Amino acid sequence: MYVTQSVCYNLAKIRTFDWMPFVRTRLVVKNHRERMNRLKIAVYPGSFDPITNGHIDILERSSLLFDKIIVAVVHNPTKNALFSPEERAQFITESTRHIKNIEVDCFDGLLAQYMKQKGSDIIIRGLRSITDFEYESHMSMMNRHLLPHVDTIFIMSDIRYIYISSSSVKEVAMLGGDVTCMVPALVKEALRQKYRLKKQNG
Ligand code: COA
Repeated sequence: MYVTQSVCYNLAKIRTFDWMPFVRTRLVVKNHRERMNRLKIAVYPGSFDPITNGHIDILERSSLLFDKIIVAVVHNPTKNALFSPEERAQFITESTRHIKNIEVDCFDGLLAQYMKQKGSDIIIRGLRSITDFEYESHMSMMNRHLLPHVDTIFIMSDIRYIYISSSSVKEVAMLGGDVTCMVPALVKEALRQKYRLKKQNG
């Protein structure tokens, strides 16, 4: 009885203000637990014009780290794309059939808004070089400014694909070079057909 009275007396002496950090910490832990229990959905955005073996390598490795990966084909108006977003999405779907936890989607607009809409707070980006890092770090900071709970996870490109980019693949294919080891077979064929048509149409 004496102990209970004493505890009540001491608790009453503590002002609400003193409880606040404790309550705040509990809320942070609760939010963190809720986030931990949710399915880990990551978004891998990019132009993918077209998808290369370098992108596929990033997808194969990141699919082991997350429950689901949404590959988001971005319509980037500053880039003069060779393939339509629908064609690019189809190439991704077909060349990643062996990866089970992948969904392919197209979007235009702000990536931060798309992340919100998909309920994801992880962006995946591949890094090939220090030049990529500079560009990517700014983009990551901008996205965090727009959505503070979003993190960008960088995956280092495999050494076999460090020199590959969609533009270089297109250039090689356009000039008749061999892109067999750079892109999936269906992309190689699509590139061949696209440039043949372009040649025919002048
Ligand atoms: N293997 C091979 N190539 C790779 C690669 C890898 N692992 N990682 C990147 N690349 C290449 C791509 O093929 C691409 O080559 P290209 O420039 O010759 O086409 C190049 O690196 C750039 O990669 P990409 O993923 O296509 O980036 P991007 O700069 O076109 O687009 C977005 C980046 C889509 C994420 C960004 O523009 C975006 O978020 N847009 C939405 C609008 C927005 O929110 N803007 C504010 C962002 S801060």
